[in-house]
Amino acid sequence: MSKTLTISQAEIHRQLALCDQIRALLDQRPGQKLAFVDTYGCQQNEADSERLRGYLARMGYAFTDTEEGADLVLLNTCAIREHAEQRVFGNVGALSHTKRRHPGQIICVCGCMARQDHVATRLRRSFPYVDLVFGPQLLWQFPQLLLRKLTEGKRVFATDDVPGAVAEGIPVVRQNRLKAWVSIMYGCNNFCTYCVVPYVRGRERSRRPEDILAEIRQLAAEGYKDITLLGQNVNSYGKDLDLGVDFAWLLEQVNAIPGDFLIRFMTSHPKDAGQRLFDVMAACEKVAPALHLPFQSGSSRVLKAMNRGYTRAHYLELVDQLRARIPDIVLTSDVIVGFPGETQEEFEETMRLIEEVRYDALFTFIFSPRRGTPAEKLADPMPKEQKSANFQRLLQRQNEISGEKHREYIGKTYRCLVDGEGADGRLTARTAGGRLIHLAGRADLVGTWQMARITDASTWALFGEVVEG
Ligand code: SAH
Ligand code: SF4
Ligand code: F3S
Repeated sequence: MSKTLTISQAEIHRQLALCDQIRALLDQRPGQKLAFVDTYGCQQNEADSERLRGYLARMGYAFTDTEEGADLVLLNTCAIREHAEQRVFGNVGALSHTKRRHPGQIICVCGCMARQDHVATRLRRSFPYVDLVFGPQLLWQFPQLLLRKLTEGKRVFATDDVPGAVAEGIPVVRQNRLKAWVSIMYGCNNFCTYCVVPYVRGRERSRRPEDILAEIRQLAAEGYKDITLLGQNVNSYGKDLDLGVDFAWLLEQVNAIPGDFLIRFMTSHPKDAGQRLFDVMAACEKVAPALHLPFQSGSSRVLKAMNRGYTRAHYLELVDQLRARIPDIVLTSDVIVGFPGETQEEFEETMRLIEEVRYDALFTFIFSPRRGTPAEKLADPMPKEQKSANFQRLLQRQNEISGEKHREYIGKTYRCLVDGEGADGRLTARTAGGRLIHLAGRADLVGTWQMARITDASTWALFGEVVEG
């Protein structure tokens, strides 16, 4: 028996009927109702916002990109670092003025921050104009919660620690017509000692393969060209399902779906990635030659304190295996500088690791203590200034490496998906490996695959021109 809790279809139908009830209620007041959805944090949150928009559309809302004049404001928040939280509180604070000008406005706060007790308490006490607060596990109940607010008038706080479930059949309004996010699982079981995600998103649970594959078949039929499978650790996909399936198998199934699209995925955890994944990536022609493989630290001692479940040597071995199998792989990663107790020598190990691996791009973070995580309580003797000097050094060196790697593209030709028009009159495009190209070409090429010759490169991007024919 699967351990995964599934919300029944009858229950989702009930939520959709509640959307219709809300629509009828809103229709009593004149004018088109507008909603503003503001999303913080990772792609999982972007994907969640697309489902929230799906519900809102069913309720009859149209969308606006500003809180000014919106009838409903929904902040889908992120708790990963202090900075993310401060931005949200700043923006919630600013909404007091907007609401004064538009007293009927409904303000909702959801997402990862909403599941934290101290955040819920602060919203309750200091932001009395926030109407509805709910955590990520209760996303599927949004219609029911909003209707309660609308009919009872009282503020609604649905922030309890309910077990996470999988809900299928929530409508989706996507933000892009070429690129689509598909969550294949929710939550995380890894409890890296610095990280808040397992606490706010609950235990790992996988969607059933037939539901994922049906969604992707539909996306392919609609002409989506770039599909990203999402999970906090996609390599543990299926473990909770008892179907004998794993992530590499899922990749093969997605690859077999007819259509001209690329498959991406994130995030892979080094403790669960390995030869089988690399072999399947190499064998599946639709799977992009790109891997995001966070290493977090170059020091085995620090990795242990982070509870990451691998050593520096194991990580480097993985990178060797990967490159032996897929030589042109675009490799990206995440790293944390200044984990509590990290010594200068341990930081130097991180510097040496990026020198050895030479990532195409790196997302660098300074450790941010998160309430309720084990790392919050660790002694943290390194002065802020030293952490920030280390951070700058790392960033600068990586920028040089990224620039050098980009310059290797010059003079070569790559297949790319033209995905938009940039502000500079050029088009934007992505290589299969995911590198950004500023592309000279006609606007009607947006949405097509093209061959691009790379003429120049910077730290952040490539520059190129369309090769006709
Ligand atoms: N599930 C993904 C990461 C999700 S969070 C994984 O395991 O790789 C994205 C990144 O934020 C992490 O990889 C980590 O580098 C960073 N991060 C998470 N918690 C952090 C914290 N408390 N302080 C600083 N960076 C953090
Ligand atoms: Fe956080 Fe670790 Fe889970 Fe990633 S794997 S979400 S870093 S606990
Ligand atoms: Fe942030 Fe939640 Fe994603 S904490 S990074 S939005 S899982």
